[in-house]
Amino acid sequence: MSGKPNLDDLFERRITYPDFEPQERLARLVGLDEHKSRLTKMLALLVNPSGLEAWARKHQPGAAALVGSVLRRPPLVVLAGDVGSGKTELAETIGDAVARQEGIDVTLFPLSLATRGEGRVGEMTQLLSAAFEHTAAEAAKLKSGSGRARGGTILLVDEADALAQSREAVQMHHEDRAGVNAFIRGVDRLGNGKLPAAVIMCTNRLGALDPAVKRRAADILIFGRPDEIQRRAVLAGAFEQLGFSPAQIERLVAATGARDGRPYGFTFSDLTQRLIPAIVLDAYPSRPLDPRRAVEIAEGMGPTPPFQETAA
Ligand SMILES: Nc1ncnc2c1ncn2[C@@H]1O[C@H](COP(=O)(O)OP(=O)(O)OP(=O)(O)O)[C@@H](O)[C@H]1O
Ligand SMILES: [Mg+2]
Repeated sequence: MSGKPNLDDLFERRITYPDFEPQERLARLVGLDEHKSRLTKMLALLVNPSGLEAWARKHQPGAAALVGSVLRRPPLVVLAGDVGSGKTELAETIGDAVARQEGIDVTLFPLSLATRGEGRVGEMTQLLSAAFEHTAAEAAKLKSGSGRARGGTILLVDEADALAQSREAVQMHHEDRAGVNAFIRGVDRLGNGKLPAAVIMCTNRLGALDPAVKRRAADILIFGRPDEIQRRAVLAGAFEQLGFSPAQIERLVAATGARDGRPYGFTFSDLTQRLIPAIVLDAYPSRPLDPRRAVEIAEGMGPTPPFQETAA
């Protein structure tokens, strides 16, 4: 890529809500109700700040100063935590909840920094600047004179670990530092313009998150591995209807938890993308699913090791 990136290079695809596909994916996420609710409120307020003023008039007269301080928060939410825990999935689908709640269209611009951090000097900075510029321009078209915007935009900066390396870390590459600065400038620009635009950043490395990025986050949502109840919800969702008994599902729940001296269990993605497909493919093409085989497969399959936060 040379020169200024064009739109198609920048965003692999854009997603527009409401749409039934993200709606279904959002509904399938287990154990994230609190995250969904906080994220929806935060995004909805950017699109419709008058909603909070209406709330204050009705429920909390005299709260103008409080309302102001909520509305002045920078439009950034950080989703942080372990691998395969639903960060990208939530970021890619939450726009649907906002669009439905507010009765408007919401567009997501997804940008992954996964492979970008090691690119040419200046490339990440250029990408980020272009992404923010584009998001701001789209959002400006949707802003209305007063009250509710005509639509909303979300910029998703996924796999943002390169940006999570603290500016204080001596080892931090010059290019990464420039990237962090471009990111901060972009968030500030969207906020100062009071645009119906938000930034969602996903990272595995909360511990290394740059202090200036952290300070700007209106909210930091932490994602982890499923507990027993959440594993049960995922596994029962997959196998209950296929005739697995509650006791058989319990065996799967136990086999996918911390055990045999291993302090961690399966991630959500270990369950949905590795275990469940392995159980299905074990039976395919000649046999029906066999709950006993399913437990054996689970016991023989190790979970992904937790993401280790190393010093930046
Ligand atoms: N809370 C959840 N409930 C149900 N399924 C989940 C949940 N979280 C993740 N999954 C499953 O795991 C898959 C991977 O999740 P996702 O891509 O969101 O992980 P991530 O947190 O972004 O991980 P990484 O840090 O590796 O990018 C999803 O497509 C989904 O199938
Ligand atoms: Mg992800």
